[in-house]
Order: sequence, then structure tokens, then C-alpha cells
Amino acid sequence: MKKTIAVIRGDGIGPEIVGETLRVLDAVAEKFGHQFTYVEAPMGGNAIDAFGVPLPDSSLETCLTADSVLLGAVGGPKWDAQPSANRPERGLLKLRSAMGLYTNIRPARMFSELSAACPLRADIAAKGIDFVVVRELIGGLYFGEHTTSEADGEQKAVDVCSYAEHEIRRVAHVAFGMARKRRKRVTSIDKSNVLDTSRLWRKTVEEVAKEYPDVELLHMYVDNAAMQIVRDPSQFDVIVTENLFGDILSDEASQITGSIGMIPSSSMGEGTRGLYEPIHGSAPDIAGQNKANPIGTILAGAMMLRYSFDMAAEAGAVEAAVDAALKAGFRCGDIWNQGGTLVGCREMGAEICRRI
Ligand code: IPM
Ligand code: MG
Repeated sequence: MKKTIAVIRGDGIGPEIVGETLRVLDAVAEKFGHQFTYVEAPMGGNAIDAFGVPLPDSSLETCLTADSVLLGAVGGPKWDAQPSANRPERGLLKLRSAMGLYTNIRPARMFSELSAACPLRADIAAKGIDFVVVRELIGGLYFGEHTTSEADGEQKAVDVCSYAEHEIRRVAHVAFGMARKRRKRVTSIDKSNVLDTSRLWRKTVEEVAKEYPDVELLHMYVDNAAMQIVRDPSQFDVIVTENLFGDILSDEASQITGSIGMIPSSSMGEGTRGLYEPIHGSAPDIAGQNKANPIGTILAGAMMLRYSFDMAAEAGAVEAAVDAALKAGFRCGDIWNQGGTLVGCREMGAEICRRI
């Protein structure tokens, strides 16, 4: 098969982790007889430096016409002083919205080889961690009006949170469909004791649930959910939640599996074209030092193969190669433990390639 992949290397460690992922994809292409063409799409701080804006029209066009999009990470302290409408992150938000990617899927699964890196008590970790956060990605506070004004000698800022039923319904369907193929439990997370948007969220999710009588639906307030994720993560199968809550809880969920550096994500809309990225940020403190863990991005590449290209065997080969490299003892700094072989980004990529 021939596929065109838009490549956003981004800022900080982005170029390093994307570079290793492309090497892994090349190994897949060779082994399975595919042809992947990579088209660069600058986005983020580097695009602000080169073009004055975080997402140039040409990059957006590249992403909208490619078969799928691979992204490293964007942002960094260098661009903190940018006006909020021109920050690197705005490029990412504009891209998600322009591509119509309303569902963000973030698996939280603990690799058995990494149990030593799990920050939870051993008896809690032993019950297993294997759930998926389904995050609504193009609504809520992120996409409401943002204003800062001045009155009575002080500044005032407002961010508007809004959700329409159809925005809730479509992501709820994804969550229930996914639960059907897993352990058949959806936990919907909201703050319906305080927020109107959450009350609408809960009501709409309940309506969608009627179409999935074989799937159990539970509701949980977001503050309680943040606590339950560290108290007993084994109770979760599929979590579905709105944009901001999903942003926060998915960082928490990833870290209890050992390291945020291990977790991929996919963002999808109606078609097969998706955006695939690790869930961590650009880590400017270790950028360019060959220290970053490329596994989150490499596994995002595997998700692309599976969900956008329908290449299940190829995706499985990448995941198996990651498992095998971990079993052989190779560890980047974020997941290193006594007895492991400490390797850099480049070497980890090579160890995974060798096992494809
Ligand atoms: C994420 C990130 C982004 C988000 C930032 C970079 C805008 O934290 O993908 O979780 O908040 O969605
Ligand atoms: Mg985040």
C-alpha cells in the first residue's frame, strides 16, 4: 500500500522522537512491502520563528490532504511571551479543530516489564492498569471565547465553556463502541453537581447508553475520579469525559503506568485520517540531548497503522518490537530501573527497529 503521512516534528524533543518513529515506520514499510511518503508540515514554535504563525496555511493544507498525520510535540518557554492567540499550542488546537478530530483516545496500560516504574503501591498496581481515556477534543473551554479586559483598575479574564448535545453524543458513541470490544464498562466523568455543561453531558451520555444495553454505564465527579485513578485504577475500562477534564486526567492516568513517555494517543473524526502523537509535551529541558524516550511516539505510529491504514499485523509488529526491546532490558532515563540498560532516544529507536 502507498500512504502519504504529514509529519509535524514540532519543538523541543519533537524532532528526535519523530525521527525514531519514521525509522520504525520505514522498517515496517520494508518488511511488509508498503510505501510511506513523508511530507513535512511545520507547526508550533519553530513555525512562529520561520513564518510568524504557529500553523501556516501550507502546513494545514498538507495535513488535510495527507492520509494521516504524525506529530511530535509543540511549545516551549521561548514562546511563552507570545500573545495567547499566537502561542504554539494554538497551532495544535487549530489543527485538531480544522481536521474535525473530536475524539482523543489515550490508553493507560501498564507494561509488565515496567511495574518497577509504577508510582503506586505494589498491591494496587498488582490488580492491573488497563483502561482508555476517551477525551472530547474540540469543544468545551478550549474552544469557547477567551477574553481579557480591563475595568476598575484591574484585569478580568473570561473563558467560555459550552457543549451542544451533538458534540457529546458523537464522542459518547465512540466510547460505548470501544467498551463493547473491551470489558463493557463506561465511566463518564463530569462535574454535574456544579456545571450546566456537565448536566447536559450526563443526560446525553445516558441517552446514548440506551443503544448499548450490554455496556454498563457509571458516572463519576471529576474530583472523585482523580482520586479513584490512584486509589484503584483497576475499576476503569473506558473513561469518557470532556476536553479539559480529559486533558488533566490523561496525564494522571499515564503516569501511574510508569511514565508519560510511554503513552501514545490518536485523535479521530469521521473519516480514517487521524492525528497521532505521544501525550507528553516538548520537554525543552532535555531537548537535543538524545535523552528523550521515543516509545510514546513510536506507539502512536502503531496506532496510525491500525486505525488509519487498517494495518493490524503491521501495528502488532511495532508493539511486539517495543515489548521485546523492553524485555531485553533497554530503558530510557524516564523508565530506567536498577539492572536495566540505559539508552538514549537514538539507541532505543534502533533496538526497536531491529526487532520489527
Ligand atoms: C495535550 C496537550 C495539549 C492540550 C496542549 C499542548 C494544548 O496538553 O495534548 O494534552 O491541552 O490538549
Ligand atoms: Mg495535556
